[in-house]
Amino acid sequence: MAQIIQAVRGMNDILPPESFLWQYAERLIRTVIQSYGYQEIRVPVVEKTELFKRSIGEVTDIVEKEMYTFLDRNQETLTLRPELTAGTVRAGIEHGLLYNQIQRLWYMGPCFRHERPQKGRYRQFYQVGAEAFGLEGPDIDAEIISLTASLLEKLGIRQLAKLQINSIGTTDCRKEYRKLLVNYLKAHKSELDEDSVHRMVKNPMRVLDSKNPEMKHIIANAPKLLDHLDEISVKHFEKLQEYLNHAGIQFEVNPCLVRGLDYYTRTVFEWVTDHLGAQGTLCAGGRYDNLVEQLGGKATPALGFAMGMERVILLMQEENAGRIPERLHAYVITDSEGAFVAGLKLANYLRGKIPSIRVTMHCGGGNLKAQFKKADKSGAGYAIIIGEHELKTHSVSLKNLREELPQQTLYQDELAEYLKLKTKK
Ligand code: HAM
Repeated sequence: MAQIIQAVRGMNDILPPESFLWQYAERLIRTVIQSYGYQEIRVPVVEKTELFKRSIGEVTDIVEKEMYTFLDRNQETLTLRPELTAGTVRAGIEHGLLYNQIQRLWYMGPCFRHERPQKGRYRQFYQVGAEAFGLEGPDIDAEIISLTASLLEKLGIRQLAKLQINSIGTTDCRKEYRKLLVNYLKAHKSELDEDSVHRMVKNPMRVLDSKNPEMKHIIANAPKLLDHLDEISVKHFEKLQEYLNHAGIQFEVNPCLVRGLDYYTRTVFEWVTDHLGAQGTLCAGGRYDNLVEQLGGKATPALGFAMGMERVILLMQEENAGRIPERLHAYVITDSEGAFVAGLKLANYLRGKIPSIRVTMHCGGGNLKAQFKKADKSGAGYAIIIGEHELKTHSVSLKNLREELPQQTLYQDELAEYLKLKTKK
């Protein structure tokens, strides 16, 4: 036998019935995001490497260690997108969507990072997110955070996550703070791990994002950027907190929250959970007021978030929040060539009348008993039977496969009405 080829490590197949849960979650997400007036954007999976280097930052884990970068056949350096903000900004600039305009955009799709796979952390994973452009006040920060809260609420997992917020100010106030932080880190250099020593020189704020438990006390005692913000950033942050209080969205200010990507300014936030082991961030984002200009556009305030779908699905499974919808509604079984042809017509008639119906024809022959067995195994709620008698009287028999109820005889239009009601649930 030929050797079996397996999937790439950290890149998962999503199989039925779990794919039903994904569809259910994706449907809910689309409805909620669109109810906030956001419009979908789809950007390519592959972009020029330079885009991610310039936006996410050279001294970040993603750019230094995690990108899937390759030379294509034209010797151009390309990268599988590790996130969607950079591509969305690139597309916005390229197509003139951002110039003096307000845009509310959302996206959903696969991302790639070469991380060490573990529960909730994969090399291919799906993000859903939204980005708003052209608005600089804290009102839109509150709207975006409220959108994330609604998403978690509708998905039935909000009770498992806590919202943390912080402000990391502007580039200017960070310059001053950087000096203080570097002095502090230098004074503790002997206690820093190798990664932090490297970061201290190149990008000191990233030391605060270290996940090494041995660095915890150094980070906790470091000077806080929150104490060195400019006046406008302070006001922005205070107003945001006021809006969140009015909206009844509970939060915690975490002065150590800095995020792992370089483009952020002012507001940053994360929904964190202790139900996913080490991978506690479910949804994260913030403001990035310099990025559009940095990528060649006109200076445009912006912010957004992204949520990891695998982490959402894991929590939904834990909460049993994803009622997996019935896999199949009806399974048509027939006992002759003529009945089979009538069955084909009937199934198409039902699909036309009830667009959400899932109905399968029995194929592959066999007697009625064997077909009933297959119908039962298919998970369908009903078996629709067409035999000699039904064929003669232009009717069908309907058997409930999940409850002990008498079999019914119905005409085609009666059957459609009946199933319409049943599939609404
Ligand atoms: P991020 O924090 O890098 O931010 O990723 C956002 C979310 O994607 C994480 O909170 C997590 O749920 C999920 N995620 C990240 N890496 C993995 C992985 N290896 N496996 C599974 N899930 C993962 C961003 O990507 C920003 N673009 C968010 C943003 C949008 N900021 C402003 N706008």
